[in-house]
Amino acid sequence: MNCSTPSFRGEIAKLPLLEIDSLAVDYRTSRGTVHAVNDVSFFLEKGETLGLAGESGSGKSTLGLSIIRLVPYPGVIGGGQIKIDGRDIVALPEHEMQTFRGTKVAYVFQDPMISLNPVKKIGAHFVELIRTHEPNVSKKEAFERAKTVLKNLGIQPERINDYPHQFSGGMRQRIMIGLAIALNPDLVIADEPTTALDVIVQAKILDLLESLRKAYQMALILISHDLSIILERCDKIIVMYAGHMVEYADGTELHGRPAHPYTQKLLQSIPNIELSDQKLTAIPGSPPDMLNPPNGCRFWPRCSCTMEICRVKEPLLISIGRNHLVKCFLYGEKGVQSE
Ligand SMILES: Nc1ncnc2c1ncn2[C@@H]1O[C@H](COP(=O)(O)OP(=O)(O)O)[C@@H](O)[C@H]1O
Ligand SMILES: [Mg+2]
Repeated sequence: MNCSTPSFRGEIAKLPLLEIDSLAVDYRTSRGTVHAVNDVSFFLEKGETLGLAGESGSGKSTLGLSIIRLVPYPGVIGGGQIKIDGRDIVALPEHEMQTFRGTKVAYVFQDPMISLNPVKKIGAHFVELIRTHEPNVSKKEAFERAKTVLKNLGIQPERINDYPHQFSGGMRQRIMIGLAIALNPDLVIADEPTTALDVIVQAKILDLLESLRKAYQMALILISHDLSIILERCDKIIVMYAGHMVEYADGTELHGRPAHPYTQKLLQSIPNIELSDQKLTAIPGSPPDMLNPPNGCRFWPRCSCTMEICRVKEPLLISIGRNHLVKCFLYGEKGVQSE
């Protein structure tokens, strides 16, 4: 681990399920290079939940997709390691990666209609997935397994013969979750799984994801631009801003002691029904053009605490407490390394 990303897992001896170290992902476009993910490091244990929060364009999906090595063209993993069960997958041959996808790590995309084939019945999606990874399973057996999954999703098993368009948006997203868990992976990455849905359906889907996660003992990375959803549902939280991990903390710590001015602003923009006189504030300005991000701290043009140094130098990610990291000069120029 390099010096700008202090390690904070000194007390953990066993291998974590997922360990990301100094990850960098770039989009090499004809107009220039977008450094969409810079120097991101974290780890995740079996059964844990991690939330990735931050405005649109902050690099959340790019980070998530890099974990299953599906960053779209012209994206490339520019550096760092992604270890799953101790094995670095960055340079893994594609055929081995295909085995990893679904069985070790599965991805739930925001828009189910992109992932579901409109001319294929729901059952066929499950059967194909199961038999691709487990060729010895018969069609009939795969079909029965699919029916059980549908039942666990709260969908009548008879609907296995329906086509994707015959389901509501919420049900389609349930089916996507079902496809993600069908092979019992250790980690599910859910990328804005409920953003396109209304709030009631949203809560139901997130509850379903949570109960399945517990039942199947999976770890979950939940990606959302909505910090309130992440706070409600995740053990650990990473706040991303313009491709940088600007804060990392446990959920309660981040809620009670947000350190980065960006996190503080995000929290101030969440309505709290228990506070009758709450003043909601929006974050001024907009995220930077990622082809030409500002020098120094990427948040300084929108920050109310900007100092001279913030405009010229990029802060390090420093430790400010147990399992609490922040990338901000308000906490000193170098900070206290945790190791
Ligand atoms: N296919 C692509 N080509 C070029 N740039 C991309 C591509 N996909 C994403 N980006 C850029 O990478 C940055 C991060 O995008 P993304 O990971 O989708 O953010 P988020 O999921 O937080 O909204 C954005 O600035 C975006 O413009
Ligand atoms: Mg995204």
